[in-house]
Amino acid sequence: MKYKRLGLIVAFCFASWLVLAFVIFNENAVKKIDVETRKGSLLKYIQELEVQISQQEETYKLLVDKLKKLTPRPENVLQALEIKESPLEKPKVPFPATKKDVTQDIILPVLVFSCNRPDIRRSLDGLLKYRPDAKKFPIIVSQDCAHGATAKVIRSYSDASQVTYIQQPDQSEPIVPPGEAKFKGYFKIARHYLFGLSQVFRTFNHTAVIIVEDDLDVAPDFFSYFASTYQLLKNDPSLWCVSAWNDNGKASLVDVDQGSKLLYRSDFFPGLGWMITKELWDELEPKWPKSYWDDWMRRPEQRKDRACIRPEVSRTRTFGKIGVSNGLFFDKHLKYIKLNEIPVDFSKENMSRLTQSTYDADYIRNVYSLPLVSAPDVRTNVNLPFDGPVRITYHTKDTFKSAAKLLGLMDDFKSGVPRTGYHGIVSFFLNGRRIYLAPHSNWKGYDLTWS
Ligand code: UD1
Ligand code: MN
Repeated sequence: MKYKRLGLIVAFCFASWLVLAFVIFNENAVKKIDVETRKGSLLKYIQELEVQISQQEETYKLLVDKLKKLTPRPENVLQALEIKESPLEKPKVPFPATKKDVTQDIILPVLVFSCNRPDIRRSLDGLLKYRPDAKKFPIIVSQDCAHGATAKVIRSYSDASQVTYIQQPDQSEPIVPPGEAKFKGYFKIARHYLFGLSQVFRTFNHTAVIIVEDDLDVAPDFFSYFASTYQLLKNDPSLWCVSAWNDNGKASLVDVDQGSKLLYRSDFFPGLGWMITKELWDELEPKWPKSYWDDWMRRPEQRKDRACIRPEVSRTRTFGKIGVSNGLFFDKHLKYIKLNEIPVDFSKENMSRLTQSTYDADYIRNVYSLPLVSAPDVRTNVNLPFDGPVRITYHTKDTFKSAAKLLGLMDDFKSGVPRTGYHGIVSFFLNGRRIYLAPHSNWKGYDLTWS
């Protein structure tokens, strides 16, 4: 009986794909229909199929579980069905229960990168306003560009012993490959990062650093956030950074009222207010790139499957509309990022929840236990017969992008990873409801060709 039902499901899937293949390859039909309309209806059809496939995958798993219970040696069933252990299982990383938290005493310098914005005043005033302890969080301003008006502003802070002022000495024109002349700024930034970070770790001998830029505002609990996540970063080797930034952190996409304490793991490197340890710098410094340092960090050779911690509600916001990259991105997206206004004392929060073993077991399992809905239904918020969190599934790059566009999420990928993605899952909050845009449950990892 059970095998018969299984057989039926497999047959149905096969039939669905046959129909789809027919639609795709039937060239006579293609010629007659306008390409765009055809693309639209195909996409819609694929999305419907995705929901069906995912539902069937779940039924399939349920049936296999039942079958296992009825079989004396369950491993035989798994072998017969070629089912491997869940890809979600990863080796456990212990969260050491230290008696005295030695990391409490750590000095966490803030490195501010500056060039030609006298408006750095705004960033520095924000940092100084919320800094709870000048000894624990010394501020180092590193200036590139030798811009006089900006230097004058920084000097006013260093004269008052509020910051340490250093200058990037190499003001020669960087060597830029032909065709990349218009990206010269990115070569200068990468060179400056190499200088600033090696100063922090080699000259000043610090153990970790919080990196910001001269066009960032910080939230009142910025320092509490980094101080309390440091131990986590240090102890969980599957983490390589803590960031203050949520790439999908628009007010309309986060839980502004209840979500301030919420933290996540992210496979996407967010930057924009981030902390690393000296160990990571030891690893990156020898191969630091000549340009586009942030996208370089996102490549698998650097990331090595490691994640960052990021908040639901951003602890930084950028006001740098005019800068090295164009202002269009600022107007379309960056200016809408919500800066957290409800301060959290993170020293009172339980961070062990975020270690890989615990998080992967709880978070990912929870996501895949949620009811499946479609992106259009989430968007209109009408055909959803229940309250509470839901899941939208995607199987292809195009269906991810189309769902992301529909819902107002960032739809781009870097090295195959969608912004804020963790195991491909993007969490957001819309119309008072938690939603996860998640890959199908047989997901095997990021696809580098998705861009
Ligand atoms: C974008 C990123 C930024 C990243 C940079 C490099 C966003 C919002 N910003 O820069 O985080 O570092 O790409 O990939 O995604 N600077 C120099 N030397 C220069 C020019 C600028 O040191 O010649 C400094 C600035 O002071 C600033 C930083 O580099 O601290 C970024 O410059 P900005 O002009 O703000 O460029 P974005 O487009 O924001
Ligand atoms: Mn900027």
